[in-house]
Amino acid sequence: EERRVLDDIEHQFHLDEDVLIRITKQFLDDMHLGLGEYNHPLAMIPTFVTGVPNGTETGTYLALDLGGTNLRVCEVTLLGNHEFTIKQQKYKVSEALKTGEASVLFDYLADSVDAFLTEQSSVGSPISPSRDILNPFDSISTPTVPLGLTFSFPVEQTALNSGTILTWTKGFAAKNAVGHDAVRLLQDAFDRKHLHVRCVALVNDTVGTLLSRAYNAGSCLLGSIFGTGTNGAYVDKVENVSKLGDNLVRKEGGLMIINTEWGAFNNTRTVLPTTPFDNKVDRESINPRYQAFEKFISGMYLGEITRNILLALIDAAPKPLLFNGRASTVLNTHYGLDTAVMSEVEDAWESNREAEIKTNGQPDWQNSHFTDVEALGPQDLARLERIRGIVVQRLLLDPEDVSLRDAATVRWAASLVANRAARLSGTAVAAVLVQTGHAKLGGGTLEPEKNIIIGVDGSLIQHYPNFQTRLRMSLRALVGEPVEKRVEIDLAKDGSGAGAALCALQAVKQGL
Ligand code: BG6
Ligand code: GLC
Repeated sequence: EERRVLDDIEHQFHLDEDVLIRITKQFLDDMHLGLGEYNHPLAMIPTFVTGVPNGTETGTYLALDLGGTNLRVCEVTLLGNHEFTIKQQKYKVSEALKTGEASVLFDYLADSVDAFLTEQSSVGSPISPSRDILNPFDSISTPTVPLGLTFSFPVEQTALNSGTILTWTKGFAAKNAVGHDAVRLLQDAFDRKHLHVRCVALVNDTVGTLLSRAYNAGSCLLGSIFGTGTNGAYVDKVENVSKLGDNLVRKEGGLMIINTEWGAFNNTRTVLPTTPFDNKVDRESINPRYQAFEKFISGMYLGEITRNILLALIDAAPKPLLFNGRASTVLNTHYGLDTAVMSEVEDAWESNREAEIKTNGQPDWQNSHFTDVEALGPQDLARLERIRGIVVQRLLLDPEDVSLRDAATVRWAASLVANRAARLSGTAVAAVLVQTGHAKLGGGTLEPEKNIIIGVDGSLIQHYPNFQTRLRMSLRALVGEPVEKRVEIDLAKDGSGAGAALCALQAVKQGL
């Protein structure tokens, strides 16, 4: 009976290749819809960024980054040799700020910039732009500092320095922001505080990541985030963005970075492999029926899906299947199980496995069946002991209630949820490769070409064990091994700050 319950859950989380292909096909259809018309869930937002940097750009700029784990204020110096240096301060954004009045949130952003300028900036307070950058405000006695805003939410961009907030995501819900211009909201806050700072550019974190990877690597096709949320921005032909109609930019042709907002892919859930655990996460979220894809993939939700699985096993009748049927405050609290705990558990299970992989080959991640504890060797038993310790400590359970078998079950649940997330992430990457002509779905042969550069950032891809390996396995199934091998996925660390600085540079050049 126990086996049957676990088999059933495992089956629900299983994604075979046919399903992955079906999802990717839908992805491509929805991308075309979003490029053709406004107001589709897969928004395919034209960013008006029509080129990528080549690494020779120079200058010092301020950047403000809202929407990841932390709010960050950065001073970015582009060195002109593909490298940049960054000085930054992180600030927390409280739940009250996330859900209160927008003006209060933006006042907090302005205060953070003010504090940074006073405490951190190397070039004085307010910082004066270094000599080698264009400063359109030279004539004003107190120099005004140009700032690029990385705003990691869906914004319908109308120009490099303006855009309307479409909706909040990732637990934000500040009032009187949706429908307003993000740059205006920030500039008004700067002005209220008489700060000599001017927001000259607005950029999504994925776009920033793409730009900064291009600055480092010389080119980049896709910038994507796998963190609190998930999203991707890629370079497409402007002629493909038919919703731009007769817009001058379209007439001129060339390339443009498109912010897909793929977190909202398939909000109708016609192809996403929804389980009752997912439905519960969605129903109890701040934005039910929105951001469907993101809710399967990103760090904000993976812990919550896993918590729901664990609770179902605790509550199983007639006999509990976990922790003697006992929960804890952590397990009973909405969003109480942090994705970082899953990461720790999987890390403990994977530790020192390399030697074993060398002899036995790669473990089959998809086939992550419930572990038969009795059949395990001493190394795996030691790993389970460690997991047991993590589970007791992080879930605040009574050690009496956590057996080695329970530890194995937690490990299994975490890997089911994370593996599905990574495999689904692969469909998004594959769709971009196919859309841009770098791959064929199903893996048909294409002319050999240069490596395909992808820049990534976010807590999940940085810290979650094997996230990239699992994503790559899905990508390989979708586009074939020769193409998958040519894909270079590299971390664009602090990328969105540098990307915002690069946009600020563009904006200043354009006299914005
Ligand atoms: C940060 C970027 O490094 O990564 C942010 O500066 C981005 O712009 C974030 O949103 C994504 O990761 P996480 O895990 O913080 O959401
Ligand atoms: C959410 C936001 C998107 C952002 C992503 C990653 O999906 O809507 O704009 O890029 O999170 O931070």
